[in-house]
Amino acid sequence: MITRDECHALDATDELAPLRREFRLDDKVIYLDGNSLGPVCERTRARVQETIDQEWAEGLVTSWNAAGWMATPTRLGNRLAALIGARSGEVLVADTLTFCLAKLIGGALDQRPDRHVVLTDAANFHSDIYIVEAMAKRAGRPVTVKAIRREALTQELDDDVALVMLTHVDYRTGEMLDMKDITSKVHALGALMLWDLAHSAGAVPVDLTDADADFAAGCTYKYLNGGPGAPGFLYVRSSWQGVLENPLPGWLGHARPFDFELVYEPAQGMQAFVTSSPSIIALAALDGALDVWDHATMSQVRAKSLALTDLFIQLVDERLPGQFDVVTPLDHALRGSQVSLRHSDGYAIIQALIESGVIGDFRAPDICRFGFTPLYVRYIDVYEAVDRMVEVMAVGSFRDPRFAVRHAVT
Ligand SMILES: Cc1ncc(COP(=O)(O)O)c(C=O)c1O
Repeated sequence: MITRDECHALDATDELAPLRREFRLDDKVIYLDGNSLGPVCERTRARVQETIDQEWAEGLVTSWNAAGWMATPTRLGNRLAALIGARSGEVLVADTLTFCLAKLIGGALDQRPDRHVVLTDAANFHSDIYIVEAMAKRAGRPVTVKAIRREALTQELDDDVALVMLTHVDYRTGEMLDMKDITSKVHALGALMLWDLAHSAGAVPVDLTDADADFAAGCTYKYLNGGPGAPGFLYVRSSWQGVLENPLPGWLGHARPFDFELVYEPAQGMQAFVTSSPSIIALAALDGALDVWDHATMSQVRAKSLALTDLFIQLVDERLPGQFDVVTPLDHALRGSQVSLRHSDGYAIIQALIESGVIGDFRAPDICRFGFTPLYVRYIDVYEAVDRMVEVMAVGSFRDPRFAVRHAVT
């Protein structure tokens, strides 16, 4: 049995431990939902304040030039690039994830005009499926979206597949796919590869360059702590830039927006994927949140993430035997930075846990989801979380009818 003291000892030697102070977290709350919404960083507050008080209040409209506002989407894209194995100039922070996917899907379908199939995962996030189906309908030729079992990918791949769109880490189970292997199989059949990195960016090591991915998109409000509804990001491999067209063009993606020309001419590089005015305050929040990454490497984060998720799985096994099914892969190579437990009363259990100060979330139909974010989650948090789960399950407090009331966000 792992003890509380052993967990304290692990925290005492954890080189990432000092970073917890960068976040505003109440010590009474155990926050295991950074895979849904990351907490506020102190630097975020400072950066947003500075943007409002100096750049906006004092600089007014001159800040578009003087404070470099116009370049923020590409500047932050370059900050983010390092975390996902992209090169400078290949990432843009803009829109939100579903919009980013729309741009990349639309652009990609135009690049394979003789092909008529898009493959995606039947277990993909619903928004991804909605947007790929909508973009396929607008491709200008018949394009069928096949939502398949991910294990059947190799059989389904043929020379009529234009694009494969997959989410790298499954939002429900936390299973991580082999990006490099899948991308090379997709390329071998002449199709293009688009990765959704919603549960990967800042969570697991990603090397888009090594995997030779064509396109990727993700969000910044989860493991990157950019704030609720924070902007998303797009990755377009440099060899596609100047080739891939933005299907949703707007004035700020034009080569000369202030010439007010009526004929669209795309700007160079990732700027061509900008549609409209960047959301400067939201970008300032993300800018501040990214500062924490100046003090942590992805390999440190990965090592601690695996240690935290291993610890959680072991404690659940030891202290709650037979009560939950662990649906997250035990194999490290297949695991993201979350652990999902299946239980038929999962929703009520999560509500009871939240009331006891342990915040996780629920994904229908029966998944209790716990995110482990090494920048601020401690080993002792894992111990205490399982301790409170033991109590909730032993006392049966989750059976109280008020915990069955479904909230809009689960
Ligand atoms: C895998 C995945 N794709 C897409 C989305 C939708 O993101 P957005 O609301 O930024 O469009 C989410 C949101 O959590 C997600 O987890």
